[in-house]
Amino acid sequence: MRTWPLALLVAIALPRCKGSPDETPWCSLARPPAAPDAGVARTWWRDAKPIVDARCGRCHGAQGIAPFTLARPSDFASRIGEVRRSIEDGTMPPYLAAPCCTPYQLGIGLAPAERATLLDWLAQGTPEGDPRDAPDASTPRAGGLSRTDVSLRMPEEYLPAPPPGSTDDNRCFVMQWPLDRGGYITGLDVAPGAREVVHHLVVGALTGDDAAVAEQRDREDPLPGFSCNGGFGGVRNVTLLGGSLLGGDFPSGLGHRIEPGARILLNIHYSTAHHGAMFDRTEVRFKVDSAARGFESVSLVNPAWLVADAMRVPAGEADATFFYQFRPTVSTGGQRVWLWNVTAHMHEFATRQRVMIVRADGRRECLLEIPRWRFGWEQPYWFATPKVLEPDDELYIECHFDNTAANQPVRGATPRDIAWGGNNQDMCAAFVAFAREAP
Ligand code: HEC
Repeated sequence: MRTWPLALLVAIALPRCKGSPDETPWCSLARPPAAPDAGVARTWWRDAKPIVDARCGRCHGAQGIAPFTLARPSDFASRIGEVRRSIEDGTMPPYLAAPCCTPYQLGIGLAPAERATLLDWLAQGTPEGDPRDAPDASTPRAGGLSRTDVSLRMPEEYLPAPPPGSTDDNRCFVMQWPLDRGGYITGLDVAPGAREVVHHLVVGALTGDDAAVAEQRDREDPLPGFSCNGGFGGVRNVTLLGGSLLGGDFPSGLGHRIEPGARILLNIHYSTAHHGAMFDRTEVRFKVDSAARGFESVSLVNPAWLVADAMRVPAGEADATFFYQFRPTVSTGGQRVWLWNVTAHMHEFATRQRVMIVRADGRRECLLEIPRWRFGWEQPYWFATPKVLEPDDELYIECHFDNTAANQPVRGATPRDIAWGGNNQDMCAAFVAFAREAP
């Protein structure tokens, strides 16, 4: 169930990671998304507003993390070109999984029909229409926590301090889990202290030696927390609880087991690009239940990438490809399990990733295609219905990296060879959450 297994996994199966990547075509690269149907008249009240409220409002509303509001037709009219481009190329909303791969519980993602409707409405010049046309039942807004049982706030304020030439600072903070009884975390949400600088974060749980390592690093660093570029600052076993600022209840009564004495690790990506540096003290809220359908996670990562420096991307390489296929017996115990979600983890050189099940009879089943990776929007993609993984099935991950001058995290930097690692390196990993119980 751990997210950073190291040499442990090396001996398990003969990994298929030499030769060529899987030949199954990427659906997201093969099929252009449907063109808008400009024939149907669209209005703000009837067509656009319900979609905008559900898929943009959480971030582009009054209290949102986005730098401007998108709440009225005039907000769209004044930046129409930018909005159309961001929807067309899939950068907004920041839901990176391609819907052609498999059906998801969409959250902030746009369903293909919603995407087409919004593009129609923009192409027609953002007409307002009649408020009486507003649909009665609005589309439910994505996310949100139904109850808060535990709130943890960063112990002190922190002022982001990116290195010279960069506007990014990745910082980790450790906090004591306060409950003295075991339970299940059944949802979490994040209240950024300074929305202007908290770009995204990842929340994990630590126990034992790993908690000690994190606390040691915290003590050694004179500032609050410790530097955590691209990972968890050298902490090895982290149970990933959630990512991004879009929290909420976990679906279907699922929960992560948490024991007394655990620590919560907050990895915050601060960006000073829009507003400069500002003091932040972020809070994370948890829903906790005494019983839940427990879920765990299996890491898709080739151990050789970590220990043998096998993930080397030479300077100037435009499309370096890494892939790995294995049977996740160490995590699943060789039992049938049910897969609930998948989270991709890569840094800023990465361009795309996919994850598949390779069935024992050779059939491929797509779990995730991210055709355009954007660092900072790591989040779990929940399957519309959980997928059975049989003991003989394998998992496959494939990542692509661009290490040319045009794709350097620090603008203008000269490319140099990179490998697996944190600051100015990259990673090829995904986490698949699974339950041992049938849904
Ligand atoms: C999860 C939060 C979130 C959601 C949901 C979201 N946005 Fe954004 N949006 C942002 C942030 C943050 C930025 C600032 C740029 C960045 O950090 O990527 C942004 C920037 C933009 C921009 C500026 C151009 C760009 O790509 O940076 C446009 C246009 C935009 N959003 C449109 C939309 C529309 C339309 C929707 C809904 C269909 C939407 N966004 C949903 C967070 C969000």
